[in-house]
Amino acid sequence: VTGGPEDPVVVRRRDDLVGLAVLRASLPPVTLVTSLPGAVLVRTPSRPDFHDGDVVDLEAAPAVDELDRWIGRAATQLAAIGAPLVRLRWQEALPPDAPPVPPAPDPALAAALAARGMGVEPLTVLLLDALASVPPATGVEVLGPLPADGDDALHRRWHGVAVLQRFALGSSTEEWRAWDDGFGAWQHGVRRGLARIGRARAWLALRQGIPVGTVTMVDDGTGLCVVEDLVVHPAHRGRGIAGALEHAAIAAELEARPGARVAVVVEPGSTSDRLQRRLGLRPVATVWTAERALDAADLDTAGGDAGGHG
Ligand SMILES: CC(C)(COP(=O)(O)OP(=O)(O)OC[C@H]1O[C@@H](n2cnc3c(N)ncnc32)[C@H](O)[C@@H]1OP(=O)(O)O)[C@@H](O)C(=O)NCCC(=O)NCCS
Repeated sequence: VTGGPEDPVVVRRRDDLVGLAVLRASLPPVTLVTSLPGAVLVRTPSRPDFHDGDVVDLEAAPAVDELDRWIGRAATQLAAIGAPLVRLRWQEALPPDAPPVPPAPDPALAAALAARGMGVEPLTVLLLDALASVPPATGVEVLGPLPADGDDALHRRWHGVAVLQRFALGSSTEEWRAWDDGFGAWQHGVRRGLARIGRARAWLALRQGIPVGTVTMVDDGTGLCVVEDLVVHPAHRGRGIAGALEHAAIAAELEARPGARVAVVVEPGSTSDRLQRRLGLRPVATVWTAERALDAADLDTAGGDAGGHG
């Protein structure tokens, strides 16, 4: 969170909650963060469907008998200002040798969440231990970091970065077709805005001059640098392009910012989870997300209760 250049507001990161800090590193600079006893509420007002920006980050896993209170908080304080979801997150420490498989949620908590209509999903946060080399990807040119602004050729490179994001979710044509262009354009604008203020560095991989892969390094301004938006075009996967791209981007980051901590968020057990370990990143936390869409009853509660919380 920043004030004006003359009057910065510095929010210190709590290192015991680094998993949650990693998930928040790439939020737009205009983000509303409210600190409560036991939690931080995060709201990105500029884009209501940017769900990552609408969340209650808890300091610890919620106790079953506290769930209704936290859900009420989400409805009161986030829904009241436009968030479409009730969304709670918390982290659990993971040992560095934890295997790349999805962990099981606490059964009593999962059952209590299910009874309230909420699913719970894990993400694994990994931190760089020592950067390991990976085999070079033959016939691939790695470019970066891209300057934020420049001539038409540079503009085309940024366009390549944006187009590749279409393939970031899922592995089927239906999922790629369902990509929301409006959201994509907004998110790309946020990333490019972060590049202009020196907080994001985008990279491209080219094969025969054609953009086939991209990654962006985003730092949170306190020495934590997060690997974001790693995507390889589906037709070019399984050739080591992601590994070569990420290796180059991390090596440049460490050279430019010695001592930076490098982190990434993956779906446990995914191709990316395995790739991160080959590159020398080690698990540090599981971040659990429990969510459901808001319903009318939540909004009634929010409307009637909004004044009661500070
Ligand atoms: C994850 C992703 C970026 C990986 O891209 P990629 O270029 O295919 O990655 P790599 O080629 O380095 O590795 C992919 C697999 O190919 C294998 N591979 C790499 N080089 C190879 C080669 N020369 N010959 C045969 N196999 C090879 C790797 O071992 C890996 O196998 P694994 O899944 O069994 O571990 C890509 O699948 C993607 O864009 N997915 C959607 C977005 C996403 O999930 N991003 C990650 C967010 S953190």
